[in-house]
Amino acid sequence: MDTSPTLWWDSDKNCLCYIEQTLLPGEYRIIECRSIDRLATAIRRLEIRGAPALGVAGGYGVAIAALTVKSDAFPAFMEGVKRDAELIRSTRPTAINLGWGIDRVLAAMKTADKPDEACTIALREADTIAREDTACCHAIGKNGAALLPDRCTVLTHCNAGALACSSWGTALGVIRSAVEAGKDVKVIACETRPLLQGARLTAWELARDGIDVTVITDSMAARFMRSGKIDAVVVGADRITHDAVFNKIGTYMHAICARHHRIPFYVAAPLSTFDPEKSEHDVEIEERAREEVTTMGSRVYIPDGAKVKNPAFDATPMDLVTAIITENRVLRQPIDTRSHLSRTTSH
Ligand code: MRU
Repeated sequence: MDTSPTLWWDSDKNCLCYIEQTLLPGEYRIIECRSIDRLATAIRRLEIRGAPALGVAGGYGVAIAALTVKSDAFPAFMEGVKRDAELIRSTRPTAINLGWGIDRVLAAMKTADKPDEACTIALREADTIAREDTACCHAIGKNGAALLPDRCTVLTHCNAGALACSSWGTALGVIRSAVEAGKDVKVIACETRPLLQGARLTAWELARDGIDVTVITDSMAARFMRSGKIDAVVVGADRITHDAVFNKIGTYMHAICARHHRIPFYVAAPLSTFDPEKSEHDVEIEERAREEVTTMGSRVYIPDGAKVKNPAFDATPMDLVTAIITENRVLRQPIDTRSHLSRTTSH
């Protein structure tokens, strides 16, 4: 199975390298990123995307800032780094991991008192975030694989795979780990309008790994669940408050449908995605460009006179979630993210 990273620091070239996801599946291209403006564009355009990958990108973003801010005076240097960090933070508001990765590297830099030293610390911390993310995905995979029957069909939405993380994936990590453990897992990937992360990315990743994957349009999911052929829904998350799971738009409708058909609805996510002090209504849902909905390729499908809405995420109330699969353990109902987090880690 493919365990290569989605984004990594190339220390020979002294730059961030990443797989350009908007080009997949047609073209596999690695981009070398050396500036904050280029990284901000990459995140806004979803060249880098998926909550855990955004956490890693946020960390490396601070390292790029530390390498590129020009000032010998340490306070002015740190001011510049923090300004750049805020630019990266503002690119996408919903996935909490982006700000989490930024804050973690900024906090690590507090022990430095010279720009050179701060750069070294920033890069080391960002590398640690990337390494830990891969370890989390494998632990989530192992914990989640145990929940799947030996032969099963899993429905997933969007892409919570290797491409959304440093590698392996969260929801797709569960599937990969189950296959690795010898289970016979088939996957139904919902295409995920409007940007088709399911059709383009999930299908590409799984097919490359030889995992049986079938793509359906989002509106077919209810029919497939009703047919009795779906054994579980497994999705990732962009943010988990104490009362809701934020994930790609369309996740909520799968959760309702899964509940109606008595299909387990699992969320696979690392603790870095948890935001337990917040509630659903505190979280900003990113509204994206009209053109993402109106246009496919070069063709416009919606007339100029019609209004369009394009929220990128929705919130699934916690009571619709069967269990949350984390790197530590599986949280079952009644799910209390606040007490889980305080018992396991500082956040
Ligand atoms: O807009 P995207 O492609 O960044 O949205 C990604 C998702 O919604 C994923 O499901 C989520 O980030 C979990 S990734 C492990």
